Amino acid sequence: MPQRKTVRLLAAVATAAAAAAGLAFAAVPANAVPTTQLDQLAGLQGKYFGTALTQANLSNPTLLAVSDSQFNMVTPGNEMKWDTTEPSNGVFNFGPGDQIVAHAKATGARVRGHNLVWDSQLPSWVSSLPLTSVQAAMETHIKTEVTHYAGQLYAWDVVNEPFNEDGTLKADVFERAFNGSGYIADALRTAHAADPTAKLYLNDFNIEGENAKSNAMFSLVQSLIAQGVPIDGVGLESHFILGQVPSTMLANMQRFAALGVDVAVTELDDRITLPATAANLTQQATDFSNVVKDCLAVTRCVGVTQWGIGDADSWIPGTFAGQGAATMFDNNYNPKPSYNAVVTALGGAGGGTTTPPPAGNTVTLTNPGGVTGTVGTAASVTLHATDSAAGQALTYSATGLPTGIAVNATTGVLSGTPTTAGTFAVTAKATDGTGASGSATFSWTIGASGTTPPPTGGPCHVDYVKAPEWVGGVVADITITNTGTTAINGWNLTFTFPGDTKIASAWNSTPVQTGTSVSLTNLSYNVTIAPGTNTTLGFQGTWTSNDAAPTAFSINGSRCS
Ligand code: XIL
Repeated sequence: MPQRKTVRLLAAVATAAAAAAGLAFAAVPANAVPTTQLDQLAGLQGKYFGTALTQANLSNPTLLAVSDSQFNMVTPGNEMKWDTTEPSNGVFNFGPGDQIVAHAKATGARVRGHNLVWDSQLPSWVSSLPLTSVQAAMETHIKTEVTHYAGQLYAWDVVNEPFNEDGTLKADVFERAFNGSGYIADALRTAHAADPTAKLYLNDFNIEGENAKSNAMFSLVQSLIAQGVPIDGVGLESHFILGQVPSTMLANMQRFAALGVDVAVTELDDRITLPATAANLTQQATDFSNVVKDCLAVTRCVGVTQWGIGDADSWIPGTFAGQGAATMFDNNYNPKPSYNAVVTALGGAGGGTTTPPPAGNTVTLTNPGGVTGTVGTAASVTLHATDSAAGQALTYSATGLPTGIAVNATTGVLSGTPTTAGTFAVTAKATDGTGASGSATFSWTIGASGTTPPPTGGPCHVDYVKAPEWVGGVVADITITNTGTTAINGWNLTFTFPGDTKIASAWNSTPVQTGTSVSLTNLSYNVTIAPGTNTTLGFQGTWTSNDAAPTAFSINGSRCS
């Protein structure tokens, strides 16, 4: 089997706003667009690159363009925590978490479940239970939530942040109910029974380097393994302060790996005292790069997740007053020096590789989001290409694109403001520069009006004849034929000029022109078109550089055949 590799593409990120805001970095132009994808590069190294995503993030297209293209592992930022999923005893709410999972699935990303047992974001009904009721409540919570998502998640953070800084266990309601660490084994066993396929993690912060807290986690994992408790991995949250990535992080990951568990960087960010200077951002690039290199150096380090997509959605400013700028993308989702450093650490430079595609290589293209557009409305589609061979650079081309829409040959992003309607195809090819094997097409429909393209096959036919046309002017005769079996009672003809034709005066209809979009409506005396008959109308107009005839016509919102 050829190794499957998902290559995901980046939509152009907002650039004008960044330039206007004066957001420029020494090492990166303000409008730089990433040249490659973190998840693609990480995939070539056998790792994933993930992000946290919240329900609110799902309505931010600029954020999603980066998230969907750069990351292939998603952790719900809050939506699977106890206060959301079981706000009162026995009342479960999986709606927000389901939305995140659905988005991840649609974009080809996997999901880390976060989290089941934690003393924070824990509803007060749990912490005020009599201690004798806590075990049953915890087991019910775990069983219900893990069962709900069974088979859909890559991993679960089963217990989150159980330790104090000195390595003692937090005396939270779970620890008190079990009179010690027994709740952790119980939680892991309960989760495993509900979904044997998800990898089960313990997750904590300040356990990245070797210290009292990570020593305690190490001893705990050792003892769980010795007891035969199901444990698959340890999550190192990695909420760093600028310049403080521990030098012992690599050795620490290695010692956990040597126990036979996976390790993952689960919540990476690197906070800076605001305002961030160019020197700060350079240090941050070093910090991010070091973390990624440490993970790459440990076979059992399965991947790196950044906590959030960009500085604008990061939790840091809201939690650590005066701190921020903690991620790889700035407030406008432009890449920062840390992004470039991570690309380099992952072995990327210009993106793609030069290994020739093997015989039989296949490329598939999908778009998980909207696949329709509207004439006159700016649109952007981020395509997702899957290549059956690893490491192929993909190039994109298109034929018959509507005027105003362009395809980026490198990123595959389709964008622009279409001035004509139509359905067209984009092709992705794997290529090594000497030829291509494997290609796929993807269709995107641009409708003449409305938020979805008008249905085709309307019971009408429209003839549009320029008679005559001269430099700067035109007279157009239009005939609408009712090809259906019922009368058309009241009609509105719509179309779009491909060029710059402007209607000056019309007959047999009331014209409205907005930009290139035209609407012609019946008058009282020609309101009805009987089946099999036609009605004629026309206009006189002007043009400067292009008087091309419209190619698609709709009557009352239905595209004429
Ligand atoms: C944070 C979220 O990002 C915030 O939105 C929320 O207000 C608090 O929690 N350790 C964890 C994460 O395991 O769940 C936390 O997420 C950050 C610290």
